[in-house]
Amino acid sequence: MFEQQPKTLQQKVKTLATESIHQQNPSGWFETLYAEANRDWNQVPWAKNTAHPYLQDWLETYPPQAKGNSALVIGCGLGDDAETLANIGYQVTAFDIAPTAIAWCKQRFPESSVTYLVADLFDLEAAWQYRFDLVYECRNLQALPLNVRSQAIRAIAPLVAENGTLLMITRCGDNNTVPEGPPWPLSDGELSQFEELGLKEIRRDSFLEGDEIIVKQLRIEYRRHV
Ligand SMILES: C[S@@+](CC[C@H](N)C(=O)[O-])C[C@H]1O[C@@H](n2cnc3c(N)ncnc32)[C@H](O)[C@@H]1O
Repeated sequence: MFEQQPKTLQQKVKTLATESIHQQNPSGWFETLYAEANRDWNQVPWAKNTAHPYLQDWLETYPPQAKGNSALVIGCGLGDDAETLANIGYQVTAFDIAPTAIAWCKQRFPESSVTYLVADLFDLEAAWQYRFDLVYECRNLQALPLNVRSQAIRAIAPLVAENGTLLMITRCGDNNTVPEGPPWPLSDGELSQFEELGLKEIRRDSFLEGDEIIVKQLRIEYRRHV
């Protein structure tokens, strides 16, 4: 998230996020940002107008069984990753807490097979538990402050069906400093919570980004074994 963005947009994100966190509503600022973007994706710092490159690379390098399988896209933003998964055959449900983001997805992809929904990660339907063959979490955890992360991880892990996969793309950081965010990189301790919740890490790829400030990104694949 927030790679190579102009300082003004970065400042706007920090201001909105800080206000939201002070109001005990860490997910509240996203709707404001999408609404004020006024359908210009350049005003959404994480938007790429295409699928995330590490998702595209994963699909090419480790082609999954998509046809006949379900996928859930968490915090789907403007929908590019959800569309990519649908295009290779997954039956995709994609949700976001921001109504403007979901309306924007529907406007961008009017013929889409994706079921786009407004939903809150912290208040999901019980019927979604253990339901999805692929759960895709890209850069949402890192956009939530540290004090709600365990709760978010506990909401994500049970969505994965037996023999299903959780694919995560995230920044990771060292374990000893509280980073200034957003984004707030995930620590090893946070990542290990997925294993405590019944998922096994089966693959991890690291990517280094940036010129002056090097950022480490991880793509981790977890599997729920029976
Ligand atoms: C940094 S953006 C990443 C969007 C997308 N995953 C991507 O990689 O482009 C974080 C997204 O999570 C959504 N979000 C934040 N809190 C959420 C919550 N509690 N439930 C669902 N979505 C949430 C935001 O609206 C936003 O679209």
